[in-house]
Amino acid sequence: MASTTCRLNVYPEQVLGTIHRNLYGHFAEHLGRCIDEGIWVGPDSKIANTHGIRNDTVAALRELAPPVLRWPGGCFADDYHWRDGVGPRDQRPRRINRHWGQVVETNQFGTDEFIAFCRMIGAEPYICANVGSGTPAEMSDWIEYCNATADTTLVRQRQAGGVAEPHAVRYWGIGNENWGCGGSLDPTDYCSEFKRFSTFAVGLGPERPYRIACGPCGNDLDWTHRFFEKLGGKLGLIEGFAPHLYQGSAGASTRFAEPDYYDLTSRYLGMERLICQQRAAMDGYDPDRRVGLIVDEWGVWHSDATPGALYQQNTMRDAIVAATILDVFNRHADKVVMANIAQTVNVLQAMILTEGEKLILTPTYHVYHMYREHQGAALIFSELESDAVRAYPDRDDDPTRSPAVTGSVSKQAQTLTLTLVNRHLGDPRIADVRLIGSASIRGASGTVLTADAPQAHNTFESPTTIEPTQATITASGNRFEHLLPPCSATRLRVDLD
Ligand code: AHR
Repeated sequence: MASTTCRLNVYPEQVLGTIHRNLYGHFAEHLGRCIDEGIWVGPDSKIANTHGIRNDTVAALRELAPPVLRWPGGCFADDYHWRDGVGPRDQRPRRINRHWGQVVETNQFGTDEFIAFCRMIGAEPYICANVGSGTPAEMSDWIEYCNATADTTLVRQRQAGGVAEPHAVRYWGIGNENWGCGGSLDPTDYCSEFKRFSTFAVGLGPERPYRIACGPCGNDLDWTHRFFEKLGGKLGLIEGFAPHLYQGSAGASTRFAEPDYYDLTSRYLGMERLICQQRAAMDGYDPDRRVGLIVDEWGVWHSDATPGALYQQNTMRDAIVAATILDVFNRHADKVVMANIAQTVNVLQAMILTEGEKLILTPTYHVYHMYREHQGAALIFSELESDAVRAYPDRDDDPTRSPAVTGSVSKQAQTLTLTLVNRHLGDPRIADVRLIGSASIRGASGTVLTADAPQAHNTFESPTTIEPTQATITASGNRFEHLLPPCSATRLRVDLD
């Protein structure tokens, strides 16, 4: 086993910005077993629950300090009529979930249940309103129901359901993927709709709505330019702009070869390219950078995800994908203000998988747990030099060629958090960490997530195959070395004098 050194210079006094807590956001849709069973089991279930919401899911998610949760979709959002999901549960209509398996949607989990769940896990709610098959009036009534304090019919309806105080929902999405399942609109037509809806998304209570426009499918710059041109400088109507970028698959969820591993784990490059190019395009229309860039759907989407329900396993490889992309978001914290991984439970790159009463944590969950210290921290300037890995070494133009080690650095009070990913499958890397400036190290500790093989994953029979372990670090002065195992994500905590 050969070990190569990578050099990390950290400049603790050089602060680049603040890492917005919402970069660690989540997304839960009425899709497969995400809401039904993963979150909502109903008050009469044998599964331990509080007012119908399963206790084990709440307990696990709380540990991640989830800052924000997007709901009810996804594609489901543009076919959802919020009135179906309020009022007495036994009187709510049964509908067909047209996008996902055409299953019956019973509407037992509606607005009040969603907000109750957000409060239990400590997340801010982010509601995606229906543009595709809805109206501005329907959306503005939803805002009134949630946020208003005046004595109106909708507020009385909320109060009759037992919710005295306003839900105070700040984040409102104006449609979802309106270039596709949200209405098949082109960017200029969508922008006209956006302006109309956004005009009526006004603050009726203590919260002023933060309005998020549907961005492109992946890094489609044409969508971005045409949307902002049509917006015609009306930047007072928009707070956030949200492209979606999924990382797809290479091989399948648990069955894949070495080139597939390097291929999929290099796709953070695509996220970095999207952020750089989208932010440059936005700068042309918004030179003062008022509008935040939001990646409100991302994650791996494997070829064997179950049709209509999108359930898939989650391996060490997926944990590496999550870690490399969270580091990208951190490094662009001056522009990216929110990101929501798809999806929270039982769907795509989930944190949690459930089977009846059983619940397991995925390797991706553990990455979110390790990285939670970055939330709200100061982004610190650092320089990382690493050798490269590639999926197709025979190809001179290998698009997957990328550094073996990537990472990011943040600081809260006198503690630095360094997250480092070694994607090399065979060899460790020695991280040679040096603090540049006057700071010196009082103590340091490490947490590492790794596995014998990238295909390793947790199962209901073996739920702790992959779990973080602690690592010791001996530092002296302003420098230390730390071994990064092959195929690993590591968090180093460095306390400064
Ligand atoms: O997350 C699954 C689906 O992916 C969402 O419903 C949609 O917005 C996206 O295409």
